[in-house]
Amino acid sequence: MRRFDFHLLIVAGTLLCVFRSSTSLKIGETCSTSNNNCDSGLRCGTCPASGNTRPRCMRTQPLSPTSKVNGLPFNRYTWLTTHNSFAVSGTKSPTGGPVLGPANQEDNVTSQLQNGVRGLMLDMYDFMNDIWLCHSFGGQCYNITAYQPAINVLREIEKFLKANPSEIITIFIEDYVSSSNGLTKVFNAAGLSKYMFPVNRMPKNGGDWPTITDMVKQNQRLIVFTSKSAKEASEGIAYEWRYIVENQYGAEGQIAGSCPSRSESSPMNTTSRSLVLQNYFSTNPNFTGACIDNSNSLISMMNTCHLAAGNRWPNYIAVDFYQRSDGGGAPEAVDQANGHSTCGCLNIAYCGVNGTCDTPILSPPPPAQPSPGGSGGSSNNGFSVQKMVNLRWFIGILLSMWILILF
Ligand SMILES: *[C@@H]1O[C@H](CO)[C@@H](O)[C@H](O)[C@H]1NC(C)=O
Ligand SMILES: *[C@@H]1O[C@H](CO)[C@@H](O)[C@H](O)[C@H]1NC(C)=O
Ligand SMILES: *[C@@H]1O[C@H](CO)[C@@H](O)[C@H](O)[C@H]1NC(C)=O
Ligand SMILES: *[C@@H]1O[C@H](CO)[C@@H](O)[C@H](O)[C@H]1NC(C)=O
Ligand SMILES: *[C@@H]1O[C@H](CO)[C@@H](O)[C@H](O)[C@H]1NC(C)=O
Repeated sequence: MRRFDFHLLIVAGTLLCVFRSSTSLKIGETCSTSNNNCDSGLRCGTCPASGNTRPRCMRTQPLSPTSKVNGLPFNRYTWLTTHNSFAVSGTKSPTGGPVLGPANQEDNVTSQLQNGVRGLMLDMYDFMNDIWLCHSFGGQCYNITAYQPAINVLREIEKFLKANPSEIITIFIEDYVSSSNGLTKVFNAAGLSKYMFPVNRMPKNGGDWPTITDMVKQNQRLIVFTSKSAKEASEGIAYEWRYIVENQYGAEGQIAGSCPSRSESSPMNTTSRSLVLQNYFSTNPNFTGACIDNSNSLISMMNTCHLAAGNRWPNYIAVDFYQRSDGGGAPEAVDQANGHSTCGCLNIAYCGVNGTCDTPILSPPPPAQPSPGGSGGSSNNGFSVQKMVNLRWFIGILLSMWILILF
């Protein structure tokens, strides 16, 4: 009877294992783009620009830093931030045609928030007697540069804040709104006013922000910055560069080894600004190039900017096409920054008890390219061949165990 139970267990284990291996794939494993059979938090994709043409699982979500280390001041955390969060590919302009120019992201703001994005960059304009999100020029929105009324996206944010009572979101407004109290009205209409973190609680001289715990308790979970300084006095909306240092965006911000501040910002090492924002995306949004930008070079620039900012890790890491990478992507950069600044470990995943680091002994990541002499077959073949080899091994071991038990 006991022996029979044991056999049953092995059979159940085998079934479980076979089932699991066919539905869940880890980072770097070859996957199928048609049914995206990666683990949750991952997405099946390629990065041809870096030679990675075989679809692999790549990360789309950072770890929630507060689930590892809670209760620190807000400025001790790092948040994944999307540049032009609203400029989603495939969006139709109000006239029904495509919006002029390339998009910066591929999924909507709700989906971004679900993936752990907590910083949103929104360009707001007066347009058609309302406030719109546009990616435009000359401070003016046009039908062909208009994405959608700002209230739609603000309502998505409101819905998320309501449903997730311990999450904090930051909005960076590139502000072209000149209608009287325009921003206040649209934030009120979206039901967001009650969540706004008040300007008078923002540290003005380099001090710590309130803790996450406090912000959550007081329900002050929406931080809003504007690029127009006058709005701080007129509408109580914080002028971004009074609180944040920010590096140069676009091509000038992608020169390896240098992290200059953007023109509106104080120098990166200005410690009277408690928050640090790191931009890293090309001047012309380029989704084939984004997977390279969002991989090693992003982390390398993060280290450069860390030094430039007086040994401060970025609080916000802003990228285009945040889901694209060669593996760990922008989520990995965010996890590393959170590790450094919350617990002093190399990654938030390694934060241990009492300031220790549980740094795993990592096996080398899978090669970015098929190994020379490997099969030149399709991605699916590569996947199933590897699984079959694994399975054969496994069954072999099981058989030996069985024989040992029986005789
Ligand atoms: C923009 O599109 C709207 C809606 O289709 C239309 O009513 C309006 O006339 C257009 N404006 C211009 C300047 O073409
Ligand atoms: C966002 O995208 C998802 C997935 O494509 C879709 O199901 C959802 O309706 C969209 N939400 C909004 C508010 O557009
Ligand atoms: C800040 O950086 C500038 C160069 O950008 C340098 O001249 C200055 O000494 C630095 N200040 C501090 C306090 O480190
Ligand atoms: C997009 O990025 C790829 C890879 O870095 C590059 O080869 C290509 O020239 C870029 N395209 C544009 C339009 O900048
Ligand atoms: C962590 O530190 C506290 C207080 O010094 C101590 O009581 C506790 O045993 C420590 N835990 C571990 C796992 O070392």
